[in-house]
Amino acid sequence: MRIDIVTIFPTFFDALDISLLGKAKTSGLLELAVHDLRDFTHDRHRTVDDTPYGGGAGMVMKPEPWGEALDEVLDGAEDPLVIFPSPAGEVFTQATARALATEQHLVFGCGRYEGIDQRVFDEASEHARVRLVSMGDYVLNGGEVAVMAMIEAIGRLIPGVVGNPESLVEESHENGLLEYPSYTKPAVWRGREVPPVLLSGNHGAIAEWRREQQLERTRRVRPDLLAD
Ligand code: ADE
Repeated sequence: MRIDIVTIFPTFFDALDISLLGKAKTSGLLELAVHDLRDFTHDRHRTVDDTPYGGGAGMVMKPEPWGEALDEVLDGAEDPLVIFPSPAGEVFTQATARALATEQHLVFGCGRYEGIDQRVFDEASEHARVRLVSMGDYVLNGGEVAVMAMIEAIGRLIPGVVGNPESLVEESHENGLLEYPSYTKPAVWRGREVPPVLLSGNHGAIAEWRREQQLERTRRVRPDLLAD
């Protein structure tokens, strides 16, 4: 998969060089390019924002640098999907991550301030598929943290990125339920025992216990998931 990121904070994404995604980059499973939006400005101050038409608080990102940046990133691209993180977008879920992990080319445009001039989305929609995606019902200062989270959620679903693919099957949200609690050695720690069924060697009983734990936890913490 190829991923391009346009941002005014390129160093934010240095962290993608570490851990599993760093390995995926080194091995060629993931090709990542980070572009500084300010490189597409032409004034001495490298200005990327201006006051909103119609008045109001805050600043809006200017269309010209975004237009030039996207022209460059989308030039010659084959069926890219452009994603703008935004609290006004559709909410990102594990299903979104699964769907996006099948794409060949993702382009993330990180907005800051009060958002990006609407014409940037309208224009980009004429050259590529465009989606606004939210990390949840809260407001971040900009899209960078949201994009980091999305890339981690998507990247680990690319075949070969996570060493043992079975570990992807049994985790929270993959079957619509929250994950069951996990234990490792020692069997007793500070007087707290590991549930005996996990030491029984009875695989059927273990699977049943885990399923019950998932249901109980989901009912208690996230009843909305069961309603779905
Ligand atoms: N930018 C600001 N808030 C955001 C959110 N909740 N999700 C995605 N991008 C954002």
